[in-house]
Amino acid sequence: MKALVRDRYGLPDVLEVREVERPAPKTGEVLVRVHAASINDWDWELLQRPTLPFIRSAPRRILGSDIAGRVVALGAGAQRFRVGDDVYGDLSRFGPGGWGGFAEYVCARERALALKPARLTFEQAAALPQAGQLAMQALFAAGPLRPGQKILINGAGGGVGTIAIQLAKLHDTEVTGVDSAAKLEMMRQIGFDHVIDYRKQDFTRNGQSYDLIVDTKTTHLPFEYARSLNPGGTYATVGGEEMRVLLRVALVGWWIRLTTSKKVRLIALRQNKDLAYLSERAEAGQLAPVIDGPYKLSEAPEALRHFGAGNHKGKVVIAVD
Ligand SMILES: NC(=O)c1ccc[n+]([C@@H]2O[C@H](COP(=O)([O-])OP(=O)(O)OC[C@H]3O[C@@H](n4cnc5c(N)ncnc54)[C@H](OP(=O)(O)O)[C@@H]3O)[C@@H](O)[C@H]2O)c1
Repeated sequence: MKALVRDRYGLPDVLEVREVERPAPKTGEVLVRVHAASINDWDWELLQRPTLPFIRSAPRRILGSDIAGRVVALGAGAQRFRVGDDVYGDLSRFGPGGWGGFAEYVCARERALALKPARLTFEQAAALPQAGQLAMQALFAAGPLRPGQKILINGAGGGVGTIAIQLAKLHDTEVTGVDSAAKLEMMRQIGFDHVIDYRKQDFTRNGQSYDLIVDTKTTHLPFEYARSLNPGGTYATVGGEEMRVLLRVALVGWWIRLTTSKKVRLIALRQNKDLAYLSERAEAGQLAPVIDGPYKLSEAPEALRHFGAGNHKGKVVIAVD
C-alpha cells in the first residue's frame, strides 16, 4: 500500500510517499481502507519531536490519527462492525499502536471508531473526530449551554473553533470569535455573531465580558481571562503552545476558583467519547466541518507545512484515494 512515511524527526521534508506492507488487524481491531484523514496539532508535534521531551524514542513511521474510510477486514473477536461499513474516528494513542492514518490502509481498535454519518463525505467525516471532541468537551465544560449566553472562542478559525461555533449556535447563544484577519470573513459566514482580529484588538481589554470562554491557544494570562468572564462564568482551554503556560493556568486557575465565582478548566481530550453526538448533529444537517483542501496524499508534506504555518482555515484534510 502507499503511505506517507518518515524515518526521522524533522520538518515536512522528512516525509515521502512510499510502498509499505499493508498492516493486518490484531485481536479487537479492524482493517480500514482510508479514504480521508485530517491533520491535528499532535501530527505536527510528533513529526518534529518525540512525545516525551527527554526520551529519544524512535519516530512513528506513519502519522495521521483522524480518519474516515471503509472496513475491509476484521481481526479476531472484532464484532462491532462488518466488512463494508463506513467508519470514522480518532486513532491517536500514546504508547504502542495508534496513528498510521496517512496511508491507504490502517488498523484500528473497534472502540476508536463509529459509523460515518451518511450525510457527510469521507473528507468531512475525517475532519470531525479530534477537533469535534475538543470543541464539545470545552463548550459543555460547565454544563449545558443556555439561550442568550455570551460565548467567546479564542483561536476560532481553526479546527476546534469552526466546529464549536456550529454546536454553540444550536443553543441560541451569542458567539464572538477571535483569530487573524484572513479568517474573519469565513468565520462570519459560518455563524459567528462578532469577530475580532487578535492583532488589532485585545479581547481581554475591550470592556466586554462573557459567560464562557473556549480557548484553543491560551495566549493570555489567567487573570486576564478571569477579567473577561461574567460572574459565575467559565474559562475552558483545550491547549496552547507551551506546557508552562498551561501549568500556570492550572495553578492560577485553582486560585481563581477558590476566590471568585468563576471557573477555570483545562480540558484533557477524551478521544471518541462523544462521536455519537457529533454523528447525530451531522445527520440532522446541523454540523458540517469547514475543510481546508482536500490535499492528495502526495501533497501531504505541503499540507502539513500549511498547517504548521497556521495559515489553514478549519481542518486540513488529505484525500487518501
Ligand atoms: N487538551 C487536549 O487533550 C488536547 C488534545 C489534542 C490537541 N490539543 C490542542 O488543541 C488545540 C487544537 O486547536 P485547533 O485544532 O483549533 O488549532 P488550529 O486549527 O491550529 O487553530 C488555532 C487558531 O488560532 C489562531 N491563533 C494563533 N495565535 C492566536 C492568538 N494569539 N490569538 C487568537 N488566535 C490565534 C490560529 O490562526 P493564525 O495562526 O492565523 O493566527 C488558528 O486559526 C491545540 O492547541 C492542540 O495542542 C489539546
